Amino acid sequence: MADLAIRALKKSYGATPAVRGVDLTIPAGEFAVLVGPSGCGKSTLLRTIAGLEEADGGSIEIGGRVATDLRPKDRDIAMVFQNYALYPYLTVFENVAFGLRARKLPDAEVRKRVGRAAEMLGLGPLLERYPRQLSGGQRQRVAIGRAIVRDARLFLFDEPLSNLDAQLRDEMRGELKRLHQELGKTFMYVTHDQTEAMTLADRIVVLKDGLIEQQGSPLDLYERPRTRFVAGFIGSPQMNFIPAEVAPGRGLRLSDGRELPLKAGRLAGIAPGAVLIGLRPTHIARAGAQPPATGVARLSVRADLIQPTGARAYVSFRLGGVETTTELEAREAPRLGEEFAVDLDLDRAVLIDPQTDRVI
Ligand SMILES: Nc1ncnc2c1ncn2[C@@H]1O[C@H](COP(=O)(O)OP(=O)(O)O)[C@@H](O)[C@H]1O
Ligand SMILES: [Mg+2]
Repeated sequence: MADLAIRALKKSYGATPAVRGVDLTIPAGEFAVLVGPSGCGKSTLLRTIAGLEEADGGSIEIGGRVATDLRPKDRDIAMVFQNYALYPYLTVFENVAFGLRARKLPDAEVRKRVGRAAEMLGLGPLLERYPRQLSGGQRQRVAIGRAIVRDARLFLFDEPLSNLDAQLRDEMRGELKRLHQELGKTFMYVTHDQTEAMTLADRIVVLKDGLIEQQGSPLDLYERPRTRFVAGFIGSPQMNFIPAEVAPGRGLRLSDGRELPLKAGRLAGIAPGAVLIGLRPTHIARAGAQPPATGVARLSVRADLIQPTGARAYVSFRLGGVETTTELEAREAPRLGEEFAVDLDLDRAVLIDPQTDRVI
């Protein structure tokens, strides 16, 4: 059963459209991540699902029940915000218990639920503290605790980790994934961080200008993007986009005249003309002693930027008139300014029509 079904959902602020007609179905128990650049409508979509904003059109079903006109508290959802919004004058225990007290749950039940959430989130030793006595990560955990005691059907998260420093963010990301597995509830999680999206999601929904650009499993979006936007958004470091011409019968030609042979049939149905070669940094290797396989183009380039990351290094060079990056093992990285040979795995490349920005 779907825990969330949205149809033709629209929301504008005055003349500014924020959500322009979204259809989305999330099956029960799934971890769905809504991702997209700042201002694309992620928060508005989440807030409209929660009932904090009123939709201009369309419908929302939560747990098989029409929720479009229900008040937020009747929607069977719990929400975690980016700014944790804890009550400063209440202890951690009372912050977590707040929603349960408001619903007049018996004290024994409150203690039981808070105890269970505290155990899952490692809050036990902190229950008598006040928010000002907590670190950022601990506060965020309290905010999550407040959501999970609600025992809602659908959990909504709006960039809950973006105020944390990098190390804590990595740690909390793992905890959230574990929490989802333990609770077995439906999560809808908003982020602008594609790494968070890739590591957390069962399903990624890419939003652009208030519309869904593409959705699918993380691997599906990574391997089969349908547009230049998705190709560039998913994956880090970013996919390279190298301009080229389709040379009929031969392959692809770069602006400097060099030709890239392709496997027979790779260009079937593709008209002569300009294309962008979308090639991920991991699909450009340093050439070895063996001759390149079919479908792999070997070229000589000059390293003009080297960014070591520890075990690996990002090495950049000009190709087809644009800056292009490869990801290599640190020990295979060339020196700055060195000429070296790279193998472009064109079998793994996507070809994009620069007129429409769609993958051909
Ligand atoms: N309360 C508001 N009043 C007016 N415009 C808003 C309001 N909230 C968001 N917007 C506008 O709606 C669009 C989508 O915003 P938002 O949903 O916050 O995007 P995101 O969360 O993806 O960054 C943006 O153009 C933003 O400026
Ligand atoms: Mg937002």
